[in-house]
Amino acid sequence: MIKVIEKVFKLDTKNSTYVFRVSPFGHLFSEYYGDYISDVDNFDFSKEKIVCPAGSSVIYDDEKDGNYTLDQYSLEVATVGKGDYKTPSIIIKTKEGYLLDLIYQGYEIHPNFKPLDNLPSPHGDMEELVISLKDKVLDIVVQLIYIVDEENDVIIRNTRIINHTDEKITIEKVASMQLDMVNHDFEMVSLYGGWGFEAQKAIAKLVPGIYMNDSKTGSSSNRHNPFFMLKEKDASYSYGRCYAFNLMYSGNHFELVELSSFHKVRIQTGINPFCFSSALAPNEEFISPLAVMTYSSKGTNLASIHFHDFIKNRVIRPGSVNKDRPLVINNWEATYMKFTESKLKSIIKQAQKLGLEMFVLDDGWFGRRNDDTKGLGDYNVNKKKLPHGLKGISRYSNKKDLSFGLWFEPEMVNMDSALYEAHPDWVICSSIRPPSKGRHQMVLDLSKREVQEYIISSVNNILDSYPISYVKWDMNRHISDVSTSSYEAGEIYHRYMLGLYHILEKINLMHSDITFEGCSSGGNRFDLGMLAYFDQIWTSDDTDAYERINIQSGYALAYPLRCLSNHVSAYKSHQLLRSINFDTKFNVACFGALGYEMDLSTFTPAEEKAIKAQIAFYKEHRDLIQNGDFYQLKDIKTSPYALWMVVSKDKKEAILAYFNGLQIMNPSIEDICLVGLENDALYSFEVRSQVHDIKEFGGLVNMILPFHVNERGFLINTISKHKTIPGEKESYILSGSALMNGALKLNQQWMGTGFNDQVRALGDFGSRLYYIRQIDKQ
Ligand code: GLA
Repeated sequence: MIKVIEKVFKLDTKNSTYVFRVSPFGHLFSEYYGDYISDVDNFDFSKEKIVCPAGSSVIYDDEKDGNYTLDQYSLEVATVGKGDYKTPSIIIKTKEGYLLDLIYQGYEIHPNFKPLDNLPSPHGDMEELVISLKDKVLDIVVQLIYIVDEENDVIIRNTRIINHTDEKITIEKVASMQLDMVNHDFEMVSLYGGWGFEAQKAIAKLVPGIYMNDSKTGSSSNRHNPFFMLKEKDASYSYGRCYAFNLMYSGNHFELVELSSFHKVRIQTGINPFCFSSALAPNEEFISPLAVMTYSSKGTNLASIHFHDFIKNRVIRPGSVNKDRPLVINNWEATYMKFTESKLKSIIKQAQKLGLEMFVLDDGWFGRRNDDTKGLGDYNVNKKKLPHGLKGISRYSNKKDLSFGLWFEPEMVNMDSALYEAHPDWVICSSIRPPSKGRHQMVLDLSKREVQEYIISSVNNILDSYPISYVKWDMNRHISDVSTSSYEAGEIYHRYMLGLYHILEKINLMHSDITFEGCSSGGNRFDLGMLAYFDQIWTSDDTDAYERINIQSGYALAYPLRCLSNHVSAYKSHQLLRSINFDTKFNVACFGALGYEMDLSTFTPAEEKAIKAQIAFYKEHRDLIQNGDFYQLKDIKTSPYALWMVVSKDKKEAILAYFNGLQIMNPSIEDICLVGLENDALYSFEVRSQVHDIKEFGGLVNMILPFHVNERGFLINTISKHKTIPGEKESYILSGSALMNGALKLNQQWMGTGFNDQVRALGDFGSRLYYIRQIDKQ
């Protein structure tokens, strides 16, 4: 709800309030963002009381008010040259230089905001406030836009700049939002990483100075995700005040947090000003991408849940949000590019037996693509590998009750390809120096209309010709060699994104029934912009379960489980060469859109049985996992084990996950406190049954066998293919209050001294899932 009380604007969501006002000189002052506060007629209480300026301040207009200095007030927008020495949110170069003084002109409230034409936007009805400001002298108009998503506790903002002068002006920086706040001993939580180690949490206490989280790779990047949080010191997953921010944009972005000399925090996010500029001719306008922000007074989990709900209800394509994410078998880690039609068929056959639902044919199915040096760009099928073409393999898949999905990397080209031979001028590179490549490939210049049209028609052509229900859209390198071509170099990065959004919009529109998975060497482009077109995103090329606990935990701070694409992969991780049992691989991967990505013919009969049980468990609880509220309780990096929970919106059921790190000697009895349930309801609590591979116990098996075996010998290997040791049993009936207050004590862990059906033998990287179901209200 948007309210205007005199010159104060009050934006209310279900649980939060945002207040700013027009100052006597027409500047906009930020005054409050936090828990919901009730309406009153007079907002004098929230004014920043500055009745004498700090020494050495520049006074805005000393004839009218000797105390008014922009440096000390909290500002909604900051420009250059009128006494605010913190980082400006807008920098525009005019004939006069960089001076800009934005003065309030008026506002409009629209009952329903209008989605942006060329940038990803949320959908649904939401009230919008447009504040118009104009430079005191030049005819440059800046509009600050606030869209209030009451239901999901999110405020969405962006900035529009319109040049009404009769000269060209150049935008050098435009933040989508700025927020100035008093510092509450904030810590910044951001997500950094690289290939295979995306979404690592960086937590740093703010100190005076400027902290910049940004990407310069051309996409939102695995280096620094656009999402970040500011939490009060000591705030935890479920306690304390926390603000979270994100940007609906997939290109170079920046998030700036400046702790100034006046103990204030300035927060900005938007397109990265790095190598950016945009010239506006008279009457042209520039629209920034949308930024989103939310507030939680109950720790970071609640802020994450607000963003998850916002993404589910407003960002993901409306047609896809109620659809279950399918259970996938992907052939990448099973075969890489070295496959034959019969190998794929055997994988499909086995997938059907296990209960999987979708076969996704990954890279290597087209052109000269036998390794990553050639073929990219040529989407004609490789008949040597697939003699019956896409038609043959997709039909076979369908015959085996699996839908068919296909991998593309449409934004890229190898020099060794028919596409490059025909259009060498379509790639991003300089005309006067040799290009630098990434994964032997070049980036197509999506700012060019003809390239956009080519991609739209070539992808659509394939989608229209075969029964394709799923597209994995990859993008495997950072952009380099940007130079002036059809546009000034400062515009290329942004125009690339506009081109990509145009392509995706067109392809989405024509294929609303297809599930789209985004990918960029894993999570190199995991952002809100992409989620407007892609229903899910491949989280990381690192499929090692232990690593994934941390990666998925990072991404889940910002993005809902249903968007995290996770696969169970081979027993020995190809990335870490670490062996982890299949149950832990499943227990981690099932917190998202689940798939398998391995040679399914390697399973022993005992493993096959376990995998079938996993798939059945996932199908039974898919709705809970994909649509429930996700809570993190303990973090694998700061505790010996991680604890996660997903709770249905109606609190009737939940899953608790326990992931062990390295096994410790003499583990203590654990009482754990769950969250999100109903205090006075009665629940059943039961461990998902798992079995132990007898080899886990090494030579100790000789204590129970009537004959002696070599713990690494042929005999034990043969027996273990068929015989397993049952895991512990554990089940209770107890109240929500008992579950949430630490009254539940889990079975004792393995102590090295005995074993029976009450012992929880986890070992290194062992894990358990517990299913919790409401059975009654007390
Ligand atoms: C990227 C993806 C992988 C796979 C390969 C294919 O690395 O992240 O999942 O699709 O490309 O080349």
